[in-house]
Amino acid sequence: MNERKIILTGDRPTGKLHIGHYFGSLQNRVKLQDEYNQYILIADVQALTDNFNNPQKVRNNIKELAIDYLACGIDPNKSTIYLQSMIPEVAELTMFFSNLVTVARLQRNPTVKTEIAQKKDLFGNNGESITYGFLGYPVSQAADIAIFNADIVPVGDDQLPMIEQTREIVRKFNSIYGKVFTEPEAVVGKFPRVKGLDGNAKMGKSLGNAIYLSDSEEEIQRKVMGALTDTTKIKKDDKANPEVCMVGYYHKLFSSKEKEEVFNECKAGSRGCVACKKQLAKNIIEYLAPLREKRRYYEQHLNLVDEILIEGTKKARKRAMEVMKQVKSAMKIDYFK
Ligand code: TRP
Ligand code: SF4
Repeated sequence: MNERKIILTGDRPTGKLHIGHYFGSLQNRVKLQDEYNQYILIADVQALTDNFNNPQKVRNNIKELAIDYLACGIDPNKSTIYLQSMIPEVAELTMFFSNLVTVARLQRNPTVKTEIAQKKDLFGNNGESITYGFLGYPVSQAADIAIFNADIVPVGDDQLPMIEQTREIVRKFNSIYGKVFTEPEAVVGKFPRVKGLDGNAKMGKSLGNAIYLSDSEEEIQRKVMGALTDTTKIKKDDKANPEVCMVGYYHKLFSSKEKEEVFNECKAGSRGCVACKKQLAKNIIEYLAPLREKRRYYEQHLNLVDEILIEGTKKARKRAMEVMKQVKSAMKIDYFK
């Protein structure tokens, strides 16, 4: 039997995961873990590139993220969840890769550019105080992926420039030192970017417009009741356009059964917004119920979460060490074998 293909993916431990993450990549990861050898990293080193002055925040979010993964259905018997900082080979490979990328290329990376512009407090109004570490994090991300020689990377669409840059770096490595690495492919979910409850194109903590996987029933209810609707609809029996309403938009994700009915009734003016929101809240609550149940289990078994991370990291390190051996041999730095 052929060895299974390898997936590498992960997230920065800087906050709770929301339904945007779920539809953008988590759902894919749960599905793909049956067919692939999947590694999922908790990117604490990368999180420190823009939280170097707040290490406690990163630390606090490690288990939160692990529990989010487990709650979604990432199965530790099928997927390997590990901590980035505990694989020193990744830092080593980052150093070697840093020779293969120009500063100008890093400055052109669209995701990094956007992030620099958003972090004026840290990096200055025009990015003049950008750190070497932050500018270079795509190199470290390339090492995350390459150290497992991953074939596939399931991510949200904001990460596509990172995968492109990874492909360039490994191509350059292979052309100079001989073929060690596979060029990875990105896989983006069915709904690559879920809009916020307020209609904002992005869902995020700072925007206060997200439904988190860990939200309680009451929180979901409250958030849905405050969602942006078609503002032209004033009275209950006004006709409206569900396409410009966030409730209509979320019904598409969570109400496969009633979706058509919702849209028809909204357009015909036979549906009130309050009832429509209540129905959506109920559907989201039901949809996320199995996740909340799994979360409760792991929250009561935190030692088990530790064990999963320790075991996962051990397994991941083993694979990283094997690939590092090939890297060093290709680069002729395998002295005293
Ligand atoms: N950049 C990703 C994020 O912002 C996290 C990440 C780090 C990652 N290394 C990775 C994702 C490797 C996919 C593959 O959440
Ligand atoms: Fe939105 Fe539903 Fe109101 Fe239509 S009836 S505007 S879909 S909340």
